[in-house]
Amino acid sequence: MTRPSRSLTALAILAGLSARPDGASAAPRPGDLAQTVAAGEDGLEGPQPEADLNALIRLIADARDPGLRRDLLVGTLESLGGRRRMPMPSAWPSAAAKLADAPDAEARDLATRLALVFGDPDAFRHLRSVAADPAAPRADRVGAIEALARSRDDGLAPVLLGLLADPAVRAPALRGLAATDHEATPASILRAYPTLTPDERADAIGTLAARPGYALALIDAVGRGEVPRGEVPAAAIRALAGHTDSRVKEAMAKVWGAVRPSPAEKGDAIARLRRELTPEALARADRAHGRSVFARTCASCHKLFDAGGNVGPELTGAQRTNVDYLLANVVDPSAIVGNEYRVTVFETADGRVLSGIVRREDERSVTIQTATDLVQVPRSEVEARRPTAESMMPEGLLGTLGKDEVRDLVAYLAGPGQVPLPARADARAPGGGR
Ligand code: HEC
Repeated sequence: MTRPSRSLTALAILAGLSARPDGASAAPRPGDLAQTVAAGEDGLEGPQPEADLNALIRLIADARDPGLRRDLLVGTLESLGGRRRMPMPSAWPSAAAKLADAPDAEARDLATRLALVFGDPDAFRHLRSVAADPAAPRADRVGAIEALARSRDDGLAPVLLGLLADPAVRAPALRGLAATDHEATPASILRAYPTLTPDERADAIGTLAARPGYALALIDAVGRGEVPRGEVPAAAIRALAGHTDSRVKEAMAKVWGAVRPSPAEKGDAIARLRRELTPEALARADRAHGRSVFARTCASCHKLFDAGGNVGPELTGAQRTNVDYLLANVVDPSAIVGNEYRVTVFETADGRVLSGIVRREDERSVTIQTATDLVQVPRSEVEARRPTAESMMPEGLLGTLGKDEVRDLVAYLAGPGQVPLPARADARAPGGGR
C-alpha cells in the first residue's frame, strides 16, 4: 500500500483553499500546510520535493485572498528559515513578478525575503538600493539592512560601511556588519567611533567583538586608549573572553588582565556596598539620576516600570525593594542562574563568535539572543557550540560605576515607581533606543 505523501496531501488541501478564499475555515492552518510542503516533510529526498515547492510557489503567486497569501508566505519562509540559500525553483521568476505587484506591503516584503533565499539577484539589488536611499522611509531601510544581513549578502559590507556616515541607519548598519567578514570593517568602524552615540558605540563594540580579526583591532584600540575601556560593555568583554583564537586570548590577557573577579572579591564587594547603602544613604539618593544610569547600564536587557529590553527578566515585579537581593544578583549573577539564561558560545563556519542565550532551536536552525541582537544561524553553519555555567547577566557591572551612580541606581531600582529622566545631555532615551 502506498500512502500519498504528506506534502502532496497538503498541496491538495491548499489548492482547494486558494480556489475558494472562504475556505479559510478548513481545519489545518495554510501556513502549517505550506511548511509541510516547503520543508519536504517526507524528507528533502522525498519523491519530488522540487515539484512540490514549485506547485506551492504557484499557489502563492495566484492566491487571491491576501490573508491566505500572507499565511502561505510566512509558512514557506518559516520552513526555509534555517537556510540562507537554495537553488532557485523554476516557478520563482514569474511568481516574483506577480508578487512585486501585490497591493499589500507585507506580502511584497515577505516575497523579497523568499527571493533572497533563492538568491534572486534582483532582490539583492533592490534591497541594497533601498538601504542606501536617504529618501526611503527609515523603517524600510532598516528592514532592508536586516534582510541583507540575515542572508549574508556578499556585497553587503561596502554598502553598510558607506552608511556609517548616516545617523538614520547607523545602528542597524553597525549590527549588520557582524554578518560578513570584510577586511575594511574594523578600521572603518573605529574611525567612525568618536562620532557615534552611546547606543551606537555599544553596537559598534558588539560587532567588533564578533570575529577574531575584528576583536584584535578592538582590543588594540582599547590598549591605545582610542576606545575608552569603561565604554566596553561587560557583555562585550565576556564575548571577547569567549574567543578560542590564541591571538585574541593573548591580547585580552595583555590589555585586560583577569576578566572575572574571584569569589572572594565578589563577597568583599557585596559586604562593602551593603555598608555603604544604608537606608539614610538611599534616602538622599537622586532617583532620576538612577534612572539614567539604569538606561545606560541595564535597560538594554531589562524592563523596569515601562521601559527596557527583554533579554533578561522584567524587574518590575522582582524583589526589587530588597537591597541584599539586588546586590547579590547584580554583583554575582552567575551564583544562581536558570538554565534558560545560561550563555552558550557559538562559532560559525565563517568565523563569527556569538555568545548569548538560545531562544529557539529546531532541526534547521538556532536563534541566539546576544546582548545587542537576535541572530538566527542555520545548524549547518554551527561549527562549535560551548555551553557555559555563566549567566547572560554580565558580572562587574557596578565596577564600572562611581559611588553616587551605584547609590542612585539602587534607590531607583528599589523605589515605588517610575521617575522622570533628568534633563541632561548624557541621559539616553529609556530602553536604549531599541
Ligand atoms: C546583557 C544583558 C543584561 C544586562 C546588561 C543586565 N542584566 Fe540583569 N539579568 C540578565 C539576565 C539574562 C538575568 C537572568 C539570569 C540571572 O538571574 O542571572 C538577569 C537577572 C537580574 C536580576 C535578578 C532578577 C530575578 O528575577 O531574579 C536582577 C535584580 C538584575 N538582573 C539586575 C540588573 C541590573 C541592576 C543591571 C544594570 C546594572 C542589569 N541587571 C544588567 C541580563 C542582563
